Amino acid sequence: MNHISQDIEKILISGEAITARTKELAEEIMADYADSDRRLLLISILKGSVMFTAELMKQLDIDCDIDFMKVSSYGCGTKSTLALNVLLDLKQQDLTNIDILIVEDIIDSGNTLSHLTNMLRGRGANSVKICTLLDKPSRRIVDLKPDYCGFEVPDCFVVGYGLDYAEKYRNLPYVGVLKPEIYLGEQD
Ligand code: IMP
Ligand code: MG
Repeated sequence: MNHISQDIEKILISGEAITARTKELAEEIMADYADSDRRLLLISILKGSVMFTAELMKQLDIDCDIDFMKVSSYGCGTKSTLALNVLLDLKQQDLTNIDILIVEDIIDSGNTLSHLTNMLRGRGANSVKICTLLDKPSRRIVDLKPDYCGFEVPDCFVVGYGLDYAEKYRNLPYVGVLKPEIYLGEQD
């Protein structure tokens, strides 16, 4: 069996740097919600944000609930009319009086989170904010900015720390760039 780390061209962000940055984000989040008397619900977006969620929740010294959603955006006709496919929904449907913090692995076009935030607001959430480990702002096609962002990354395909290529490499303890020969010649 090959080691998956052999397929990585270079490490972009080490596990240690992620832990340190996550601690800073947690401090910002705690300060922002310190005076709130509403419930805070962290929504971890499966599967990519699992490792980041685990790191973040350990650092949050505040009372919060945690739930999971699995969503994907899909095209319906043209590129600009993407819609949201909810593959796993929240246990709790009524979000009245709840502050939501979506925990995501990476924002690319912004389509997925733009639809998701609208949907959660429609269910009555008091506020919906986004905390993402990675952001690729150069790829954005909708107007969406994360409230908390770990690192901006260039326009290249990254894996590890939860992020996958064809379901592989999620368990790498860092964010890295794949060797081009891994995906060249393969279909999406
Ligand atoms: P968006 O709707 O285009 O923002 O899609 C974001 C989703 O695309 C993320 O949650 C990832 O699942 C996936 N994605 C985008 N860029 C990458 C990448 O570089 N590596 C792995 N997954 C990615
Ligand atoms: Mg994802």
